[in-house]
Amino acid sequence: MKYSIQEHYQKLANQYDDFWANSSEFIYFLTQAIIENLQLKLTDVLVDLGCGTGIYSKAIRTQINLENKIICVDPSDKMLEKTPNNSYYQTVVKDAIEFAHEPGNYDKILIKEMIHHINDKEKLLTGLFNRLHDQGILLIILLPPTIEYPLFQQALSVYESVQPHYNNLVNLCEKIGFKTTVNFIDYHVSISKEKYFNMVRNRYMSLLSRFDDEELNNGLQEMRENYKNVSDLEFCDRFVFLLAKK
Ligand SMILES: C[S@@+](CC[C@H](N)C(=O)[O-])C[C@H]1O[C@@H](n2cnc3c(N)ncnc32)[C@H](O)[C@@H]1O
Repeated sequence: MKYSIQEHYQKLANQYDDFWANSSEFIYFLTQAIIENLQLKLTDVLVDLGCGTGIYSKAIRTQINLENKIICVDPSDKMLEKTPNNSYYQTVVKDAIEFAHEPGNYDKILIKEMIHHINDKEKLLTGLFNRLHDQGILLIILLPPTIEYPLFQQALSVYESVQPHYNNLVNLCEKIGFKTTVNFIDYHVSISKEKYFNMVRNRYMSLLSRFDDEELNNGLQEMRENYKNVSDLEFCDRFVFLLAKK
């Protein structure tokens, strides 16, 4: 059975943070890169747009004691429920484009692995340009046009056909008035095969919600064949950090 993107995240919410529970080093590494690239200051008002469970907002808070609540925005109430309701976070159940066109001014905006869900990217980015203070920074983190994940071939092919290219986002940002820089951040992943296969079985990437149960089982069978003699999977997880400064 295939699910819409909304249904996909509503169903995933209870497992999402568990997928990364044994990956604290990875989360710490990426969070450091986020804080550096955003040049986060104690007084900044930060928006985590498409924050999901707020896993990165929570990690940011452990590294920097921001004076203002982090504004965590996501249309999935079930994902957002995993962000603590306390003085550190303000949760907003909302679509990104809607949020971007409502009043409000912010210093920094983080979009991590969410931009591929937005159809009208120009509308979103124009709205965000207007929401940022002068000198404000938008950081868009996305995966590159090709990935080395140990997935089945059909998943990798579909990925390549649907993933937005960061160069198109750069052009869009420049057209709107942002000054852009692109950095690549690599992390060497070593994960037990069983754990990774289980994540795939649970459709940990929204990409996998494009495959029905039978297609996914066939894909897992292909992966079992490809990796039959290994117990751990090793690959490079590369992230594109697109910095857009106002
Ligand atoms: C892959 S998750 C990333 C979550 C989080 N940023 C992270 O890195 O862990 C993508 C998130 O984008 C959200 N999303 C999907 N469509 C969206 C939209 N139109 N506006 C804002 N967020 C959206 C989903 O609900 C989901 O929580």
